[in-house]
Amino acid sequence: MPKKVFIKNFGCQMNVRDSEFVMGVLLENDFKKAVSINDADVILFNSCSVREHAEDRLFSNIADLGRLKKKNPDLVIGLMGCTAQNHKEGVLKKVPAIDFVCGPGNETDIPEILKDILENRCSIIATDKVNKKRPELFPKYRNAGFKALVSIGEGCDNFCSYCIVPYVRGRERSRDAKDIIREVKDLAGRGFKEITLLGQNVNSYKARKGKDFVRLLQEINGLKGIERIRFMTSHPKDASVELFKVMRDLDKVCEHLHLPIQSGSTRVLRLMNRGYSHDKYLKLADCYKKLLPEGTITTDIIVGFPSEKEKDFKKTYRLMKEVEFDSAFMFKYSPRPPAKSIKLKDDVPGEVKQGRLEALLGLQCKISQKRNEAMEGKMLEVLVDGYDEKSPYKFTGRTRTNKIVVSRGDEGLIGKFVRVNIVSSTPHALIGEIVDDKK
Ligand code: 5AD
Ligand code: SF4
Repeated sequence: MPKKVFIKNFGCQMNVRDSEFVMGVLLENDFKKAVSINDADVILFNSCSVREHAEDRLFSNIADLGRLKKKNPDLVIGLMGCTAQNHKEGVLKKVPAIDFVCGPGNETDIPEILKDILENRCSIIATDKVNKKRPELFPKYRNAGFKALVSIGEGCDNFCSYCIVPYVRGRERSRDAKDIIREVKDLAGRGFKEITLLGQNVNSYKARKGKDFVRLLQEINGLKGIERIRFMTSHPKDASVELFKVMRDLDKVCEHLHLPIQSGSTRVLRLMNRGYSHDKYLKLADCYKKLLPEGTITTDIIVGFPSEKEKDFKKTYRLMKEVEFDSAFMFKYSPRPPAKSIKLKDDVPGEVKQGRLEALLGLQCKISQKRNEAMEGKMLEVLVDGYDEKSPYKFTGRTRTNKIVVSRGDEGLIGKFVRVNIVSSTPHALIGEIVDDKK
């Protein structure tokens, strides 16, 4: 009897793709997908360690696994992802019910690991391939049938001083363009309409034969079938005018740029090892806005980085006002050993970090509202991606610029493009009426 697997995901889009990839590899190795956690013979947790809070949440979620094992002693439980790589065998001490720990680089070994555990009931720590290139396996399985995440590489070489990613996901390895193209062609052939290219820093994508990210976008844009191409994350030190021009000129590349600023203070940016200044970021954002006046821009910000003074924070606040991001993810700094910033004293008091975070949240909420209000009265193309029977607006979807749209509609529209007249808005979504379901 094939064993049934349930994967619970924590963390970013990269983890969502990794979970999907591992499920795909397992389905092609005589495992089945469990319908729920209670129905599973194997439970995998895919973990995030980018912020302390994410790790704490994971460990509180999995603290009680012993109970599940008591009910079903044959159950196999694994921890994969960044926290697995970060804590290695320490995970087994923290959560004894776990049978194996597998870092992101070892994820293609999971079928073998599971076979070993199911035969020999042993514990396994697989974290030795943090810098290895993943074998190209092309599993068929996808979470949904019309939009897909496509990884263009792994790891990161930037070593921003606060960030754990280069340690847990290893050095940057770009996938070969021909493998990415093969994956996208296969998706297009299966009716997928939207792809999101994923990398920690897509702009530093470098494959053999000198292919860079702009060339990759051009090549994918030429493939038949796919109608929308998205990508994330861009790094301000590597994003270029050339990139914005292809965003403007290539019909399938969507007009949304996620460009994390992290801080508006050049002094703090230097301590963060970000490789750009306040002015350089502003120039870049200006240039993007000029080239794509209808485009959207979003960002990530950290408040309370070591030594951040009120003066530094004000620079971040002012920059947010100036750029007018469509939305922003904002975080309180937390030290993430072995990232280099642990050498700096975490000297901004908790309540100051909280106050700064709240001030930015309040400001961003107003800006998002203003940016969304500007969409009212427009007719926008929306790809319908969700349906909720209980909500007064029955469907949700996304514009090319990645704005969420809610509207009345029916389930049959999922995966289709519709034209929507935007009638009102909130800071988080546009509210519209479907005009027709043709492009
Ligand atoms: N503390 C707070 N936020 C962090 N991020 C990354 N590392 C930390 C940290 N140590 C945030 C950054 C990054 C996002 C994914 O998470 O803003 O862009
Ligand atoms: Fe972390 Fe910086 Fe790499 Fe992003 S670019 S993953 S913040 S080290």
